[in-house]
Amino acid sequence: MLKTLHLIFILLSLGSFIGRVILSEIKPILLELKAIKIAPHIINSFLIVSGFSLVFQGGWLSSDFGWIIAKLVALLAYIALGILVLRLKGQNKWLAFAAAMLCLAYIGAVAVTKNSFFFL
Ligand code: HEM
Repeated sequence: MLKTLHLIFILLSLGSFIGRVILSEIKPILLELKAIKIAPHIINSFLIVSGFSLVFQGGWLSSDFGWIIAKLVALLAYIALGILVLRLKGQNKWLAFAAAMLCLAYIGAVAVTKNSFFFL
């Protein structure tokens, strides 16, 4: 149940991010709307709260929790890159977007494998 909610918030977070990137290209004025400004913060807060709840529900802190730290660090990078994407223009914007997507893929892969170095 909690994991399903976590997964739903991940999809909503991704959807709201991509939606804002599209708006920044076709109708940036809409990004000034209060609802569009606030909604991602609410979704991302629920995503983080559901993640922390899963940590406690699964008792993950009593085992090897390096993968959770890796998820948090990559999450910070994803948030910072997301802010950059909406501020930058041209090639740099798309480089930041690609890096943000890589962070998200890394977070997902770490969550599934429970191994921060799953690629080695
Ligand atoms: C963009 C952010 C995040 C993404 C993309 C993400 C992705 C995922 C995915 C795909 C799963 C399912 C793994 C599986 O079923 O094997 C999962 C589970 C989980 N996530 Fe996240 N997550 C994010 C944020 C967080 C945060 C911030 C935390 C906590 C600090 C967290 C902690 C957990 C825990 C503890 C599980 C449960 C693992 C299990 O019981 O198998 N997640 N996450």
